[in-house]
Amino acid sequence: MAIQSSEFRQKEKIEIHIYSSAREASSLLAEEIAVLIRKRQSEEKPVVLGLATGSSPTRLYRELIRLHKEEGLSFQNVHTFNLDEYYGLPRDHTESYWYFMQEQLFKHIDLPAENINIPDGLVKRSDVFNSCQDFEKKIRDLGGIDLQILGIGRTGHIGFNEPGSPVDSRTRLVTLDSLTRKDAARDFLGESNVPYYAITMGVGTILDARKIVLLAWGQGKSEMVARSVEGPADEKIAASLLQKHKDVRFMLDEPAASQLTRIKYPWLVGPVEWTTPNARRAVCWLSREVKRPILKLQDENYSEHGMAELLTEQGPAYDLNIKIFNIVQHTITGWPGGKPNADDSNRPERSNPYPKRILVFSPEPSDDVLGMGGTLARLQDQGHLVEVVYMTSGNLAVSDEEALMASDLMMELSDSSDAPSIAMEVKAALSSGDNKSSNDAVRRLKGLIRRGEARAALRIAGLSSGKEHFLDLPFYERGRYRQFFPSSGDFEIVTNLLREKQPHQVFFTGEGLDPSAVGAHCCALIKAAIDSEMDSPWMIDCRFWVYQSPDKDWPIHDIDMAVPMSPAQLSQKIQAIYQHKSQRGQTPAVAQDLHEAWQIAQTTARQLAAYYDDLGLAEYEAIEAFRRFIP
Ligand code: GLP
Repeated sequence: MAIQSSEFRQKEKIEIHIYSSAREASSLLAEEIAVLIRKRQSEEKPVVLGLATGSSPTRLYRELIRLHKEEGLSFQNVHTFNLDEYYGLPRDHTESYWYFMQEQLFKHIDLPAENINIPDGLVKRSDVFNSCQDFEKKIRDLGGIDLQILGIGRTGHIGFNEPGSPVDSRTRLVTLDSLTRKDAARDFLGESNVPYYAITMGVGTILDARKIVLLAWGQGKSEMVARSVEGPADEKIAASLLQKHKDVRFMLDEPAASQLTRIKYPWLVGPVEWTTPNARRAVCWLSREVKRPILKLQDENYSEHGMAELLTEQGPAYDLNIKIFNIVQHTITGWPGGKPNADDSNRPERSNPYPKRILVFSPEPSDDVLGMGGTLARLQDQGHLVEVVYMTSGNLAVSDEEALMASDLMMELSDSSDAPSIAMEVKAALSSGDNKSSNDAVRRLKGLIRRGEARAALRIAGLSSGKEHFLDLPFYERGRYRQFFPSSGDFEIVTNLLREKQPHQVFFTGEGLDPSAVGAHCCALIKAAIDSEMDSPWMIDCRFWVYQSPDKDWPIHDIDMAVPMSPAQLSQKIQAIYQHKSQRGQTPAVAQDLHEAWQIAQTTARQLAAYYDDLGLAEYEAIEAFRRFIP
């Protein structure tokens, strides 16, 4: 919803730049850095960069590498200081930030090794203070940091400055927040492997940089971004303390910006163009704001909430209320595959053909039931030909403990001498120490665990066996978190499947995620495959529906199809999710607390139903939401 003026700035205490993609933003920033480096080179002066780890800056680093390789950008005059390092990890540990920086940037460019500074994670406890002091002194001796790159963590942390970090804190040893450790659990293949401590630059150290740029992509960041930018500068959210800096900006993609007032409630900060989607969004919001169902909204409710113009254009309230109520009402259907032999003029999905060939794409096993377990069961019950496609094995999300348990089980079944060789291999690898998780046998076994769980979940949803496909896309099998590079091979597998199945309905997910997330890569592959099939005859008779991914909360005005669930259907869905036992104890990125995926799925579906109820529509136990994707 574009705003015609810059009035939105009234709420924002930090400069915001929103881009259509992380890639676009990262290239612009890389270019800005290149200009700075070249300028200093011409003056024969050094540049001091403050660097971050995590997924957020990886595209920036790739672009810097490209500038080095293709455009001759040299880093000879650059000095770098990294924000943080896990305490207790050796440099060659695959999850140390030292290792991360080597892999993602340093080994691909000509930055002199002696110019690299990363807090020492192995320094003796008694030497930590001095080591941190030296780190700070080195920054000062080089004249301070010219440009500090930041990401933002789920607790709003910058570096590892967790809630409560004072504005004047300096480089020091910190204890990691339990949410932060949970977030890192996937990278470390199990929470128990995640260090408890880290050394991080302080908020004060960061604020000393001359310029600061924070990068955030995906809906998972939107809440913390909005609170940091529009809320008070408060130690509870370290990123909000950036408001105190003179030259700071946030570079965001659209999903990361989605909770800012100018995007979420633009009519509160400036004039908007009152298209039907905008009117729907505003009326839904108003109904909740004044706690009145849509059909009971009055003219004064509109005019008192910055919507007088909408009333002039499309009012009075009575007419507008009915118009929006009907639009919302028509999103609700108990027939997600279309109702055979019924008038479908006001239904989200068409009646014919019946039954439909339906493909449900699940980036990892469990995304399907989390996002649409209830709908999956309904589609099956209503006689459609449903098949579920698990795009990746999801083996990276299985802990080592789980794999050990499975291999122990296999070994128990036979005496250990003739135990299945995979069990022996896994056991040997997991007992051997470093880099165990990259072992092929370990990943294979973990993938098999997830297959078993996916099949168990489908059984609960009522699908008979043989209706599932495991694509084990190569990009995932070859990759690790933050290092997935889909190629034409992945694209062909997805395209060939669509071509072979010629579905009438396709369900997929992953919109609005951090672009480096597995779900985002899967979503991009499906969209590319759809694009390439645009001229195929089957496309004419196919509809595409996006389901909610566990990491993403959807506003009601964006929903095109709402599928209600009875209490029994909701508990069936939860039972299906329970089958993904290896995923228990993990929290999706959207959770601000320690809730697990099944709890979030349950709450989301219940809250959505309550929301529809508040608007004055029928009251259901729970609702699953879908958005139509029109290629
Ligand atoms: C870690 C790092 C932070 C980083 C954050 C977010 O906690 N210490 O510096 O900003 O993760 O990471 P990501 O960019 O992967 O979301």
